[in-house]
Amino acid sequence: MTATNPRAEVEFDHHSADFCARNYEVMADLRARCPVAHTEAHGGYWVLTGYEPVEAALRDDDLFSSRPSVGIPASPIPAPLLPIESDPPLTRELRAVTARHFTANAVRALEPTIREMAGELVDEFVERGECDIAAELATPLPARTILAMLGFAQHRWPEWVDCVHFLMHDRTTDEARTLATAGKLFADIAEEVGRREANGLGDDLLSSIMRGRVEGRALDPLEVSMYTFTLFLAGMDTTSGLVGNALVRLDEDQDLRARLVADRGLLPAATEEFLRHDTPVTGLARTVTRDAEFFGQHLRAGDPVLLMFAAANRDSGFVDRPDELDVDRPRVRHLAFGVGEHRCLGANLATVLFQVMLDEILTRLPDFRVTGPGERFPDAGETYALRHLPVAFTPGRRRVPRPARKSATV
Ligand code: HEM
Repeated sequence: MTATNPRAEVEFDHHSADFCARNYEVMADLRARCPVAHTEAHGGYWVLTGYEPVEAALRDDDLFSSRPSVGIPASPIPAPLLPIESDPPLTRELRAVTARHFTANAVRALEPTIREMAGELVDEFVERGECDIAAELATPLPARTILAMLGFAQHRWPEWVDCVHFLMHDRTTDEARTLATAGKLFADIAEEVGRREANGLGDDLLSSIMRGRVEGRALDPLEVSMYTFTLFLAGMDTTSGLVGNALVRLDEDQDLRARLVADRGLLPAATEEFLRHDTPVTGLARTVTRDAEFFGQHLRAGDPVLLMFAAANRDSGFVDRPDELDVDRPRVRHLAFGVGEHRCLGANLATVLFQVMLDEILTRLPDFRVTGPGERFPDAGETYALRHLPVAFTPGRRRVPRPARKSATV
């Protein structure tokens, strides 16, 4: 792009406790000093924090491959997550296998059921006047939804969420446990695949994956497993992070909360701004495919590169007053869902889940206040999210008396 500069070496580790404690400060410092920098952590990788380089890398799959891993360090699981750890044109074929389940229309059709599930979850704590909103609403709703879509038993969400939380937030601490946890999920997926093979395929997401064809052939059993596994990871963790982060902001900004309580028409703009300002997926990686100049730095084939969506979304070259949460700003093209070939397949679903949860909270616990610091996951390198968030509010009524209630299914 431009003449090569001396390598911009920085001390940085996105998995460190320091990054978790000061993530936006650290990202602002890196972005200001060198939006394309290099660190020696984890064997060495590039860190992109400027909007332009992150967007350019996302759009250039030839130079920035999603193989072998979108994690730094690479995951010890010896098979790619699909479709995320694939490159075009295969990526397009893989996405087509499940795309119909994630269109705006498909998600709109699911919305009444998602709303019913959200209502049931709020019923469980609304009379108490307090709850852990992350653990009792923001975590179970997305988890139950993706399980229902896949055709898995919804009531098993706690055990699977535990696995996903470990794999998403703690995988760099214990390789043996990572492999054991992934192994448990693969065994559960295999059991469900076996059930479909015995009883016939249905209209659920797992059945679509099992029917999937790429490159003129059927997906093999490992690919079926890795695709389903990816939907567990992507579907269970990210949206809950967005809700927790947004509730912390609404606790701090009473004016914004009052406006949202009075006018749900603001919710779509607020959703975009929460995604931009408190981006739940901090960053994901690529691998450089050939030696190349990139924004004044010399990249070598095989170099890992971390694309920091959260840092890009607060770049003042892309948006005015980037550190301000402003729901009235003109719509901007944030990178919270990525962009290009791998743009989040679940973006429509995530948006509806988020808006249903916010709507339910603003309706049934409009005066909620955060009553403690909560607990963030100790590693913000890939996902910036709260595990626990205690809130108190004026107690309300259940919608349906306990014995008459039936569980919603998708
Ligand atoms: C607020 C919530 C969410 C955020 C911020 C988010 C963010 C992202 C991002 C940044 C990517 C791009 C990855 C890349 O370029 O390498 C992605 C991909 C993906 N997301 Fe999401 N996601 C969210 C929710 C969901 C949900 C609910 C699902 C549904 C199961 C989902 C499924 C996927 C899948 C399957 C991919 C891979 C797409 C591909 O590689 O072609 N996501 N997501």
